[in-house]
Amino acid sequence: MTSIFQGRSFLKEIDFTKNELLYLIDFAAHLKALKQQNIPHNYLAGKNIALLFEKTSTRTRSAFTTAAIDLGAHPEYLGKNDIQLGKKESVEDTAKVLGSMFDGIEYRGFSQATVEALAAHSEVPVWNGLTDQWHPTQMLADFLTIKEHFGKLTGLTLAYVGDGRNNMANSLLITGAILGVNISIVAPKKLFPANDLIALAEKYAEETGANILITDAIDQGVEQADIIYTDVWVSMGEEDAYQERIELLLPYQVNQALMEKTHKKETIFLHCLPAFHDLETKVAKEIQATYGLTELEVTDEVFRGKNALQFQQAENRMHTIKAVMAATLGNLFIPHP
Ligand code: CP
Ligand code: NVA
Repeated sequence: MTSIFQGRSFLKEIDFTKNELLYLIDFAAHLKALKQQNIPHNYLAGKNIALLFEKTSTRTRSAFTTAAIDLGAHPEYLGKNDIQLGKKESVEDTAKVLGSMFDGIEYRGFSQATVEALAAHSEVPVWNGLTDQWHPTQMLADFLTIKEHFGKLTGLTLAYVGDGRNNMANSLLITGAILGVNISIVAPKKLFPANDLIALAEKYAEETGANILITDAIDQGVEQADIIYTDVWVSMGEEDAYQERIELLLPYQVNQALMEKTHKKETIFLHCLPAFHDLETKVAKEIQATYGLTELEVTDEVFRGKNALQFQQAENRMHTIKAVMAATLGNLFIPHP
């Protein structure tokens, strides 16, 4: 017996329906409970999984690696300097070779077209571990964390404050609309999401009842927020944009004053990480030397505050990635969600 998930790739959020995404979130919660109770769940015994990384990663790489091992599979890391991809060999040829040896492929890199081509030519499930456009596995962890905290998703409001046109903003906008979670993208006009993405979110929102708000007005954008979410102001691959982004985004820094603008009794803070909240990194020290700033998208006070759930969120990367791999590659009976 196969399931509706078997053999499918997860390249972007719209690959799955609302019910399928909700199923994966709940399945991840189940796998998390199994792990906590030391109950084996080696649904992928004997499988081989390729982990392709053109960009660096702490959470996604660690999550795919440990999730694969817990599932009984063998993960193999293939970094950008290890393989021929894109230099001496096309994506299509690479996909055919990897697909003949591995049972599933994770890809993190720049172009969404690359992950789509890997899926088109490998004949095995491919999972997007972040591209410039989307970060779908992050979405499962984020909405699992929100559901763990609030016990529900429907009717909540998530305000994403910062670079409104990066992969995280794109993914949160569309996923919230699919799941029926109200989404506010709070950003300077220059960093608003692309019009076609706003239109897509509004199309889903019509079906699910989610409210979509795109605004540069911080007070209006965060007043209903149950969740304040931010991400780095400069994403991987855009490192020459610091000056422009700092000028645009400094008013949008998530600090205690911004957290207190919400009208909700309790608002949680989320961040996909890594975060610039102190001076404990090389890049943060360079930014301080050049711009005189000690914190960027979030202050240390908020980051270390009692409502900041970013490390629970980070752990949930593993449980949710495990759910995606087990559902799409395992021989599990899953009733049609
Ligand atoms: N959130 C996230 O994807 O983290 P990494 O870049 O460390 O994988
Ligand atoms: N927007 C960030 C997300 C990191 C997880 C980046 O692409 O660098």
